[in-house]
Amino acid sequence: MGKVYVFDHPLIQHKLTYIRDKNTGTKEFRELVDEVATLMAFEITRDLPLEEVEIETPVSKARAKVIAGKKLGVIPILRAGIGMVDGILKLIPAAKVGHIGLYRDPQTLKPVEYYVKLPSDVEERDFIIVDPMLATGGSAVAAIDALKKRGAKSIKFMCLIAAPEGVEAVETAHPDVDIYIAALDERLNDHGYIVPGLGDAGDRLFGTK
Ligand code: URA
Repeated sequence: MGKVYVFDHPLIQHKLTYIRDKNTGTKEFRELVDEVATLMAFEITRDLPLEEVEIETPVSKARAKVIAGKKLGVIPILRAGIGMVDGILKLIPAAKVGHIGLYRDPQTLKPVEYYVKLPSDVEERDFIIVDPMLATGGSAVAAIDALKKRGAKSIKFMCLIAAPEGVEAVETAHPDVDIYIAALDERLNDHGYIVPGLGDAGDRLFGTK
């Protein structure tokens, strides 16, 4: 079974409170999501392997550590996932960015891929799929399916807020995928919104309604 990590760092929790607040406007909301994505990227990269290199400081020769050539990929689920990408790239600027777009079929209510563009070397990369909200888990499961279908071997899923239903759906469908969240909320309401959540992440990021 995949692991679920809740990032309870005080800075993440503080900023998340203002992200949730309905009185936070679009500009500030976008900035806060960007900042929290950076802080979460710091935590999610904790297990990156290091290797030693030789350098010279102004004082002496030294052996020092650098990240050992891991190939990373960040995959936002369109459209709200886009709001987390730049914050992650601040810490991992060499990561490649793919995109996955899904819509819900009105008949079957199942997510259907309408856009998938990934880096060419999918099999060699470690991917982080990002979406601010893990609600029913339908999109997350479909996005992971889409990546695996194209050869991805190593996938993490990162979101701001998750509902227990969404966590369970991902754990059941993809037990090899670890989930990284800033908060685990109470439940989904009848409209599929996370309670208390933050409302519609896409609308709040892009100022649409
Ligand atoms: N998507 C959102 O943007 N918000 C929710 O609460 C659930 C899904």
